[in-house]
Amino acid sequence: MKTQLSMLQLHDLTFVPFITSAEIEERIAQLAQQISADYHEKTPVFLGVLNGAYQFTAALTQQFNGDCEVEFTKLKSYEGTTSTGTIQNLIGVNNLKGKHVIVVEDIVDTGNTISEIIKILETEEVASYRIATLCYKPEAYKKSHKIDYIGLEIPNKFIVGYGLDYDGLGRNLPEIYQLK
Ligand code: IMP
Ligand code: MG
Repeated sequence: MKTQLSMLQLHDLTFVPFITSAEIEERIAQLAQQISADYHEKTPVFLGVLNGAYQFTAALTQQFNGDCEVEFTKLKSYEGTTSTGTIQNLIGVNNLKGKHVIVVEDIVDTGNTISEIIKILETEEVASYRIATLCYKPEAYKKSHKIDYIGLEIPNKFIVGYGLDYDGLGRNLPEIYQLK
């Protein structure tokens, strides 16, 4: 049976269905398989970036095949539907020295947040780091650092669901919606 998704209203904005939960889950399973192979002989630390990456971090680590640690950090750059350009560090990291870190992001947009996290990881003297993101907007990306694991490349349009919010709403949805 196929469930027909319908339009969604959050605050003043209307969103339309964009990526189904089945597609998201399938893509995460593939990424988990790839990461499991790449980290076969290591015990990585998955570092989820709150709040947006909470669903992706849970799904990805559940399907990771091997020993791993799970940590979270909290940064904030978005107000409404635009990047403010300034990053607030709300929960820092600790004890990552010498660890193999996989940063887990909900979405890489301008790349400001990822750049900030990379700076932090370099100061922490981690053994290695890679970036995993569920969604990536190549047209919006302004940085040069390679994004190692990309779930879905999407156009430069605001999305919600599967952890992503519009002013606090929409994170709990199991699928992704796009601004109409
Ligand atoms: P960046 O620093 O511009 O790369 O933006 C990264 C952060 O902004 C993400 O971790 C999200 O929390 C938020 N963000 C970027 N694009 C969207 C979007 O389309 N919907 C919801 N949040 C977004
Ligand atoms: Mg985020």
